[in-house]
Amino acid sequence: MKKQAIGVCLLCLAGLIALTGCPGGKVSPRGFRLPEGSIWNGKTAFVDLGCIQCHSIEGEELFPETTEPRKINIVLGGEITRVKTYGQLVTSIINPSHVINPQYRDEFLDEEGNSKMPDFSKEMTVRQMIDLAEFLQARYEVVIPNHGYSEFGHGP
Ligand code: HEC
Repeated sequence: MKKQAIGVCLLCLAGLIALTGCPGGKVSPRGFRLPEGSIWNGKTAFVDLGCIQCHSIEGEELFPETTEPRKINIVLGGEITRVKTYGQLVTSIINPSHVINPQYRDEFLDEEGNSKMPDFSKEMTVRQMIDLAEFLQARYEVVIPNHGYSEFGHGP
């Protein structure tokens, strides 16, 4: 009797996973893929949007460099960073408070625990976001999800 109940439960679970497509469900990054961007335009957007006020980039000369010393200087890119996947990179740009690297927690949070990085979602165009991702991706050695396009918008 007990065994049967467990069996039914497992069946339900399998059905649920099959229905939702994958265990990540609604918030799964699956199927997320930006079109190709321009590294050069990304670099320009980085300066134009003022990212340069708080960030420098490992091994990259930004132009024009800020004339005032940065109050915050978080170096992006290189090997000692948290951002590892494409999804994390884009999230850290458009939703910076979502996940905050523990090494920044004490210094770079406001009283409410949000990132001191401003919300760019109103001023940044989608094109700028795509280009920024392309530009930063190379600096971070970020992994791009390897799923092609299918009729459902995602591959295997
Ligand atoms: C006023 C300062 C400020 C500005 C301007 C700013 N950031 Fe940030 N950024 C931060 C702070 C503080 C953090 C660390 C806390 C966090 O992860 O949100 C951060 C974190 C990040 C990270 C994640 C770093 C990591 O390795 O975890 C990325 C990527 C990033 N910023 C990109 C950008 C881009 C692109 C722009 C411009 C569109 C920008 N930032 C503008 C302050 C800023």
